[in-house]
Amino acid sequence: MAIPADIVNEIKYRNDIESVISSYVELKRRGKNLVGLCPFHNEKTPSFTVYPENGSFYCFGCGAGGDVFSFIKLIENLDYADAIRFLAEKSGINIIESATDNSLQKVRNTIYDINRETARFFHSVLMSDEGKWAREYLLSRGLTLKTINHFGLGAAPDKWDSLLNHLKSLGYSISDMVAANVVSKSNKGSYYDRFRKRVMFPIINVRGRVVAFSGRAMPGEDKSAKYINTSDTLVYKKSENLFGINFAKNCCEERIILVEGNMDVVSLHQAGFENTVAALGTAFTADEAKLLSRYTKEIVLTLDADAAGQKAVRRAGEILKDTGLNVRVIVVPDGKDPDEYIKKNGPERFKALLEGAVSEIEYKLLTAVEDIDVNTDDGKVKYLSRAADIIADTPDPIARDLYISRLSDKYGIQRSTLENRVKEIRRQKAKTKRRQEINKIINPRFEKSSVLPEKNAYPAAVAAEENIIAVLLSHPDFTDYAKDNITPDMFISSVNRRAFERMLELSLEGLDYDLSLFGEIFSGEEMGYITSLLNGNKSGDNSLTVLKDSIRVINDESLKRKSIDSAKKSTDDWAENIKKIIDNKNKGDK
Ligand code: UTP
Ligand code: MN
Repeated sequence: MAIPADIVNEIKYRNDIESVISSYVELKRRGKNLVGLCPFHNEKTPSFTVYPENGSFYCFGCGAGGDVFSFIKLIENLDYADAIRFLAEKSGINIIESATDNSLQKVRNTIYDINRETARFFHSVLMSDEGKWAREYLLSRGLTLKTINHFGLGAAPDKWDSLLNHLKSLGYSISDMVAANVVSKSNKGSYYDRFRKRVMFPIINVRGRVVAFSGRAMPGEDKSAKYINTSDTLVYKKSENLFGINFAKNCCEERIILVEGNMDVVSLHQAGFENTVAALGTAFTADEAKLLSRYTKEIVLTLDADAAGQKAVRRAGEILKDTGLNVRVIVVPDGKDPDEYIKKNGPERFKALLEGAVSEIEYKLLTAVEDIDVNTDDGKVKYLSRAADIIADTPDPIARDLYISRLSDKYGIQRSTLENRVKEIRRQKAKTKRRQEINKIINPRFEKSSVLPEKNAYPAAVAAEENIIAVLLSHPDFTDYAKDNITPDMFISSVNRRAFERMLELSLEGLDYDLSLFGEIFSGEEMGYITSLLNGNKSGDNSLTVLKDSIRVINDESLKRKSIDSAKKSTDDWAENIKKIIDNKNKGDK
């Protein structure tokens, strides 16, 4: 371990789990513990629990768990050691560590540096004679110099090696440039600038660091793609970032506007809508939804009015549905994108659109009618049954009531007919949901997952192992007793065996079983599992009895397995013998 244990302890001490998690998740006190909506999966009722007493957290919904470092690892998308460094930095602790193991972190820092220098370079090209074409293009699209500076827009020169030479002159190695994905390697083995003759949009994350680039070709130029973007690197995951989030995150308590294009973000921003973001060349993802739900209450989707745009709205709506965010939709008239609309009609008109943005249900009801002729009776029936489905999906009873009234009036049917239909659909859905929940209770997530693949075949043995680990986690003083009565090789499940081995190691060193001493060698999923054992240990005063009983079970089970094994072996031997006899007989016959 590169970071000494006492420093890790100090960092942990200064970052108590309750206040660290509170800055990401709204927590409510429940007895000794705190609960909130899990930031690692979409849920509506809180199953995410923080245990200040032993500095751990666990989500009963998705199985995520661990200590404060495991939490930072998951939420900031860092590796374990970086999560420790992250909290160290926050609490002003200086970590002196050996130079060897943090090579990955070094590459990461270098990529950040390269990205910053690259953004500077492209921006200075844009402002110079060499980048006149790009500057004029952006100005011609109505952007002001102030906006161009604010976003740090740039221009990639029309050459194969401008950036490469510039970065080389600053002392960066080619391999680091490739790692940052600003330089590519050709089939012949030579290196060249990835972005050439493009208008450049730097992508900046919530912590204000340049993590990637998006480059737009000049109109009319025969380029293979209108935009090319940085691929995923050590510091950038396309599906988890949004263009504009660095600005939007500071002014979006009320809402965030989600648009399709980079140009829409820049242009809306200039018109005063700084709370605008765009997904980066991919469809909107659940990770991005999660990112947004950290900052705002409401998302306004303003996607194009064409078929593709509508499909995108529906998809984004589905993804956002479980985040608890309010979702509304703007349909920009005449199939324009927001950038064009605002240029033609001005910010006030766009603001009116924004305020009149329909709720997602209204939008769905509007678009569901499109391929149906509601002037015929058949069409009416078809539409109303679709509409009933949409209304049934709406959690808010007032909204349901409102739309049932509206539609029955509009289509001249009895209110109760539509109302009963909606009720019936909801009953069916609730039934399916209950069945799924019961299933979940019968087969909790981690038992199905890769953490405990052995549980199905050996339920009794694995349950006993779980008890042992659970008891020892809260009673390290029983370790000697356990050590004298079982050995790691008697454990059936690998995660429990490794946990037991780790405890033996730690007890030899005289260390307590702090979760941070497990986080380094166990995966996130395994940490969740171990934390669930720690917090699920209800044996209390009976701990020693539980431990003894469980050890007995393990001994019995291990004997049973041995006798089954030997029985199987004797069967195998018997079969082998028969085979030999037959073979010999055949030989003799010939
Ligand atoms: P648009 O074509 O709508 O781009 O694509 P735009 O930003 O509005 O650009 P202008 O107004 O035509 O100049 C929407 C987004 O899809 C991604 C980009 O992120 C773009 O901003 N995209 C588009 C790509 O990644 N690659 C492409 O080839 C095209
Ligand atoms: Mn556009």
